[in-house]
Amino acid sequence: MSRIAYVNGRYLPHRRASVHVEDRGFQFADAVYEVIAVRGGALIDEELHLKRLHRSLGELRIAAPMSDAALKSVIREVLRRNGVADGALYLQISRGAARRDFPFPPGIEPTLVVTAQRRRGPSTKQVEEGVGVVTLPDIRWRRPDIKSVALLPNLLGKQQAREAGAFEAWLVDRDGNVTEGTSSNAWIVTAAGEVVTRQADTSILNGVTRLGLIGLLAREGLTLVERPFSVAEAKTAREAFLTSSTNFILPVVTIDGAPIGNGYPGSVVRRLRQAYEGHVAAQGAA
Ligand code: PDD
Repeated sequence: MSRIAYVNGRYLPHRRASVHVEDRGFQFADAVYEVIAVRGGALIDEELHLKRLHRSLGELRIAAPMSDAALKSVIREVLRRNGVADGALYLQISRGAARRDFPFPPGIEPTLVVTAQRRRGPSTKQVEEGVGVVTLPDIRWRRPDIKSVALLPNLLGKQQAREAGAFEAWLVDRDGNVTEGTSSNAWIVTAAGEVVTRQADTSILNGVTRLGLIGLLAREGLTLVERPFSVAEAKTAREAFLTSSTNFILPVVTIDGAPIGNGYPGSVVRRLRQAYEGHVAAQGAA
């Protein structure tokens, strides 16, 4: 099946799907995006993604291109035309196309692009054996809570991680605390069994998977603590893991090459992965 993209009102084959050379997303990264997991034909936590999308748009004062009801039908049509029941839905909204100039051009129409891809999640080996992360300075701007397409520091960090043989890079602020991964949120489990992740202020993206998991913790009888944690604390934690829409929950078993605990995924992360899969399956069945 050839891939189809939605671009500003039209469903087009990928090879013909393009935006204008003066689109501000292309020229200035003046755009926001969302990645939504699709399982069993269902969009996982779609409402939370749309809520975050509106927050990102609002922070950057970009107009919504259409109502949520219309956007939801475009999203479903893209999934249908691409035959994607298990995979990821990508949507991007830029401020629009106009003659290149820094201030917001008046009367500009936002650009909307929606694409879908089949599942390319983590391997069974990564889920069962865990992955490694390296730590790098967080060199991003001070508003990574806005899900903008300005991802250059994230790409550089991910590439550096891959070149070091690691799956992800955990970004570290000036105080030596982990903010988050380049495309995921960072978590540890302390010796006391508390589940710790950084508070969702302007220093991290408030992950939808993060929010979904927080909703499950109490039911699992686990205590959540939202606070910063240092690289040193993470390295001596009982367990560590990461969350994102493309990976759900993945155990982290090494940090900068040093094993966490005994170097194998711990009981808490395994339990949480299972609980999260239940959360996903429940939406697919709905
Ligand atoms: N990334 N932090 C950052 C910097 C991210 O880019 C992401 C998601 C997350 C996790 O958010 P969520 O649980 O809502 O996926 C945290 C997406 C998957 C991406 O850019 O591909």
